[in-house]
Amino acid sequence: MAIHLPDNPARSDVLAGRPTLWTNPHYTENAIADATLPVQPSDVDEAQENWRRLAPLLETCFPDLKATRGEIRSDLVPLEAMRKALDYDDAQFGTLLVKADSALPVAGSIKARGGVYEVFLFAELLARREGLLMADEDIRRLAAPDAKAFFSRYTIAVGSTGNLGLSVGVAARALGFRATVHMSADAKAWKVERLTRLGVEVVRHDADYTTAVENARIAAESDSTIYFVDDEQSRHLFLGYSVAALELAEQLQARGIVVDADHPLFLYLPCGIGGAPGGVAYGAKKVFGDNVHCFFVEPAQSPCALVHLMSGSEDLVSVYDVGLTNRTEADGMAVARMSAFVATVMRRMLAGIFTVDDASLLRWLLSAHQNQNLRLEPSAAAGFAGPDFIVKHPAGKDFCAYQRIGDHLTGATHIIWTTGGAFVPEEQFQTFLHTANDIAATD
Ligand SMILES: Cc1ncc(COP(=O)(O)O)c(C=O)c1O
Repeated sequence: MAIHLPDNPARSDVLAGRPTLWTNPHYTENAIADATLPVQPSDVDEAQENWRRLAPLLETCFPDLKATRGEIRSDLVPLEAMRKALDYDDAQFGTLLVKADSALPVAGSIKARGGVYEVFLFAELLARREGLLMADEDIRRLAAPDAKAFFSRYTIAVGSTGNLGLSVGVAARALGFRATVHMSADAKAWKVERLTRLGVEVVRHDADYTTAVENARIAAESDSTIYFVDDEQSRHLFLGYSVAALELAEQLQARGIVVDADHPLFLYLPCGIGGAPGGVAYGAKKVFGDNVHCFFVEPAQSPCALVHLMSGSEDLVSVYDVGLTNRTEADGMAVARMSAFVATVMRRMLAGIFTVDDASLLRWLLSAHQNQNLRLEPSAAAGFAGPDFIVKHPAGKDFCAYQRIGDHLTGATHIIWTTGGAFVPEEQFQTFLHTANDIAATD
């Protein structure tokens, strides 16, 4: 299907695979109040309640969570040395922070917030339904050997470019489930190896992510002992991610950072299919309302959310439909078609989307390592372009003028969400650094 994208200042850059910023013409105040959306603000509170109830079980299953009593949290850290390196020293860049989901325990990526949540919630529901867990019983009961034997009769399946598979696989195996991860051709070898070591069955599809998910869904439909974590449609994944915004609000408050009309907040969220950034953005809209502006970031050859939302089409538009290749080093974002569910929720809530090229991802990965001691994978570095697009790009300046925040930029806070990397094996990480050094040498 060949698609004609509408006239827009970003259109020619998008079609040529050049980094650019698209601001959403349908961005609307208080869009979260739309009662017809498939999620509602109270769902975020319910998800937080679920996380709290599951925390003792999580602490029992994962010793890494002792210190946080079962909470899966990441640090919020100031961008310091890297601020200079990125040329973000000027006061007009306001306050710059990194939300380091790249170091999240259990799964080493933002996917811990979604995948672990959905698997643990399913385990609890299943156990209650089958009489294994009584109303007032201690949830840690689900880590007992007989519970594990019970869960081993079920399989958790998921399609993944890598990190969702890791988080679902780790969570499923910790409870005793069998697990099958369907992976796209882009999946990195080290992620496959790690899953195999955990006892997860990995099915490699010689196809892209959308096809891997479709195949996984079909396999699950014919078998009632398979629970399918559906990255294209799951409310649970989305809401698991959304609770990150409540954590962020607490951390901003602890730092004395105010978010209001004079102190806008910008979030830069790497996007694959859209679930993780969509969930976080939704939670942020619930907490900060119109004072937060959420931007997705995608690879210039895989901007699936950008082409779909820009097209205005009801039917999903893929990056192939506009002649792009979906080829990128950023495996977590190598997705040709976004989630229809996320598209519906984000249509009027998302401020915009910018794109980045692979060479820049590697430059930022190197700089984050040298200057901030952050261990990132390429997808996770995408947000670093955000402040530059907002402050300096013509579309960013127009956006700020239209939103009447152009005079408040020195009081703004920009948060670069780094989404994965802690589990990258040393040898693979050195290869990233090596490639990045080669790129730097030719700059
Ligand atoms: C490191 C990293 N960042 C961002 C994303 C994007 O998340 P989503 O596909 O839910 O949009 C992924 C997805 O796997 C990822 O692995």
